[in-house]
Amino acid sequence: MTSHSDLTPLADIRDRTRLARQCVTTDLHLGLTAVLLRRALTSSEAQSLPAAVPAERTPSAIAFERVEVRERPRESPQEVQVAVGGIPPRRERFDVADLVTRQDRAEALEKLRELHERACPHCTTATGHTHLVFGEGDPESQLMFVGEAPGETEDRVGRPFVGPAGQKLDEMVRAMGLRREDVYIANVLKSRPPENRTPLQSEVDACGPYLVDQIRIIRPRVLVTLGGPATKLLLATELGITRLRGIWASFRGEDIEIPVMPTFHPAYLLRNYTAETRRQVWSDLQAVLAKLSSPGEDSR
Ligand code: URA
Repeated sequence: MTSHSDLTPLADIRDRTRLARQCVTTDLHLGLTAVLLRRALTSSEAQSLPAAVPAERTPSAIAFERVEVRERPRESPQEVQVAVGGIPPRRERFDVADLVTRQDRAEALEKLRELHERACPHCTTATGHTHLVFGEGDPESQLMFVGEAPGETEDRVGRPFVGPAGQKLDEMVRAMGLRREDVYIANVLKSRPPENRTPLQSEVDACGPYLVDQIRIIRPRVLVTLGGPATKLLLATELGITRLRGIWASFRGEDIEIPVMPTFHPAYLLRNYTAETRRQVWSDLQAVLAKLSSPGEDSR
C-alpha cells in the first residue's frame, strides 16, 4: 500500500512547463499569487514568469496545531478551536476496517452508493430531484472537497460540481497543481433541494451520515469545506464561514479525526469576485497544499 507520506500533491505533475501555464492561467482567473510557481519551478523557470502579486500580499503560513492565523488577528484561536465534527452516525455502521488498496476503497464506495440509494431516509423520500449525486473522484485521495448539495446542472447530470460553481472549483483544483480526478468531491446532501434552497437540518441529519461514511472510506488527509452549510455540518458550529475560513479545524467522527480547511463556496466566489475573496480562497488552498506536502501521519 502506498502511504500518505509517499504521496505529495504535486507528485504526479512531472511537466513543470504545463504546471506553470496552468498556474498563470488560473492566476488570471482567480487573481492568485505566484507562490505555487515558486515552490514548483526551478528558480530560472520561475524568473521567466511574471510575478503575480507583490511580496507583501503573499499569505502568511497557517500552522495547524497552533491555529496561528497571522493574517486575521481579530480572531483568537480559542474561539474556533471548539469546532468539532457533528453529524450523528448512522445506526448501522459501514465497515471500513479492511480497506487497504484503492480498489478496496472504490468497491466500498460503490457499496455505500447502492446502500444510500436504497436506504437514505431523505433521498428515498424526497421528490424534487432527477438524479442522486453521490460524489466522485479518487477513492484514496488525500484531499476531499465537500459542498452543500447538487444544483440544477448537477441534478441533471448526476455528478457533483459540474455547473458554473463546478467550473470555478475546477480552476481552484488546477491552481493547486492537481487534476479534478486527483481529488474527491462530494456534498452534504446527495439530492437537490427544491429551488436550490439551503438544506434543512432534518435532511442533513438523514443524508449526512452517508457523507461521513464516504469520508471514513476515503480517509483523506485534508477536508476542504466549501461554504457555510458544509462547514457548519462537519464542524458542528454555528459560526459563519466568514469567521471560520482560513482557520484549521477538525472533523471528528467516531473513528476518525481529519483536519478541515473551511473556505468560501465557489458559487460565493462567482457572486463576489473581488481581489479580496480570490486572495482569501487562494490563501486557504495554499494552507492545504502546505499541509499535504508536509510529512504527516498516515491515518489509514
Ligand atoms: N454546489 C454545491 O454545493 N454542490 C454541487 O455539487 C454543485 C453546486
